[in-house]
Amino acid sequence: MKQTLAFDVYGTLIDTHGVMQALREIIGDRAGAFSQAWRDKQLEYSFRRGLMGAYQDFGVCTAQALDYTCVALSVVLSDEQKACVLDSYSSLPAFADVKEGLDSLRAKGANLFAFSNGRSAAVEILLGNAGILDSFEGVVSCDDVQTFKPNPVVYAHFIAETDSEPENTWLISSNPFDVIGAVSSGWKAAWVRRSEAAIFDPWEFAPTTVVTNLGQLTEKLIP
Ligand code: LAC
Repeated sequence: MKQTLAFDVYGTLIDTHGVMQALREIIGDRAGAFSQAWRDKQLEYSFRRGLMGAYQDFGVCTAQALDYTCVALSVVLSDEQKACVLDSYSSLPAFADVKEGLDSLRAKGANLFAFSNGRSAAVEILLGNAGILDSFEGVVSCDDVQTFKPNPVVYAHFIAETDSEPENTWLISSNPFDVIGAVSSGWKAAWVRRSEAAIFDPWEFAPTTVVTNLGQLTEKLIP
């Protein structure tokens, strides 16, 4: 049975801390703390909008989280600087292990899809700029169903869109909340733990497997 692999985008394929370069030029060594606070708030806004049924696309969550983070960390950005920082969000780099890992999985005949909170058009631009768009058969976006991960609706949408079965579908994600969402929908899931500092939530759901880079996936998923 052919496996379908759904790759989370932001934080798994693409390094969201790639905005650090643009931020460092503006706020120096506070860039790391700023980038982390911004990312955390972006996800919090997606969770809250999902719960409230007050959907706005992921780009809105990103922009509003940037405004919040500026206030929280007392950073004043001009409109031009804000536009520049937000613009860098569409040209973020892929993690170093991604290209080779994807090529190896494709060579084994797996169906690879990108699966993201981001709008399809935004994700296609991002993956294109990172040089990995061609590795995928398609992009499935939560925007189609106007809600966000980890709402079970988005995992069911992916299954329907790709004509897959949950038991033959893997989520590949660095985000524990995403892994838990997929496992609770009956999928298998690989947690990509690139840093030893990453912690998995101590809930009743565990990843099916854990890898430290995408290069380890082929052996674990398609031995
Ligand atoms: C995504 C977010 C969760 O790409 O990172 O869906």
